[in-house]
Amino acid sequence: MNLDFNRRLSIAPMLDCTDRHERYFLRLISKHILLYSEMVVANAVLHAKPEQFLGHEPFEYPAVLQLGGSNPADLASASKLVEAAGFQEVNLNCGCPSDRVQNGNFGACLMKEKNVVADCFKAMQDAVSIPVSIKCRIGVDEFDSWEFFEDFIQTIRNAGCRIFIVHARKAWLQGLSPKENREVPPLHYDFVHRLKAQMPDLNISINGGIKTLDQIEEQLKDLDGVMVGREAYENPWFLHDADERIFNDIRPESDDPAKIAAGECRPATRKTLLEAYLPYVEKQIAEGCPMTILVKHLYGLFTGLPGARKFRQALSNGAPRAKGPAEAVTLVKNAMELVQEP
Ligand SMILES: Cc1cc2nc3c(=O)[nH]c(=O)nc-3n(C[C@H](O)[C@H](O)[C@H](O)COP(=O)(O)O)c2cc1C
Repeated sequence: MNLDFNRRLSIAPMLDCTDRHERYFLRLISKHILLYSEMVVANAVLHAKPEQFLGHEPFEYPAVLQLGGSNPADLASASKLVEAAGFQEVNLNCGCPSDRVQNGNFGACLMKEKNVVADCFKAMQDAVSIPVSIKCRIGVDEFDSWEFFEDFIQTIRNAGCRIFIVHARKAWLQGLSPKENREVPPLHYDFVHRLKAQMPDLNISINGGIKTLDQIEEQLKDLDGVMVGREAYENPWFLHDADERIFNDIRPESDDPAKIAAGECRPATRKTLLEAYLPYVEKQIAEGCPMTILVKHLYGLFTGLPGARKFRQALSNGAPRAKGPAEAVTLVKNAMELVQEP
């Protein structure tokens, strides 16, 4: 098991976004970012074929599978499957505010149940030898004081957890949609920094509203890691220099897609990156994956460049009609021609 990775920069779990294809695509940009899966409900993992929720390529590593749930036994059994599937870490979601998740009594509402979280963590960590981490908020509803947050983390720490990812805003469980819950409650980075200062033995990543490598470097002066969500999905090219600046891995740039897919070089341009993704698209289409799923992750690639909108439109209009691997490749190549990249 290769545990030779660090958490200096990770990509957030995002439902309908960070599936295996997105993770593969992001891995072509950076060799070192830690990639989180979208949340998978523990019960679903237990009752599905492994390929359905745990299928992936080793090329994605280091990768983390995020579980949702609040039943220690189910989470422990699901964690075993996650480990057997090859993931380097398993994460418990204590931050998602959606109604569906609340009805299942997990996600952010677990922050009100610190002892349940501690029991879940223990059961999961006892079941596997890979690390188990917790992703949480700084509070929930009216429970938004420093003391509440500190007590929550301390309880889980006492159960043995050492890795925390903190979305630095609280969640409002009534009245705000999941989207609003990522925007309306104010960010309090100070909570996360205070936590690290007070509990330096913990590995702490900060999350929420971070969009540039400069901001990431600033946070890393005091913290162990930064997790980025929306910016990585909507504008993935911002990660272009991440290996060099965040992980001190200086590799040459190349226009050769094969060298990028082999991890030897960094893509010199966004178009080279896309070329490097194409063999994967061909393979996935041949195995029956719909083109719409494979291309939706590309919509943000040319953000800010002339023709970016036309590129997106060409993909979204053409994807439902692209039938075989050859048609899929032609679609992407034609769409690419609509963009002017400097
Ligand atoms: C579309 C979408 C889906 C998300 N799904 C999850 C999820 O499955 N599990 C989770 O812990 N957080 C989820 N989140 C929250 C992100 O992981 C992250 O905490 C949040 O977007 C704040 O980070 P950002 O400002 O860098 O985007 C989701 C966010 C978005 C935008």
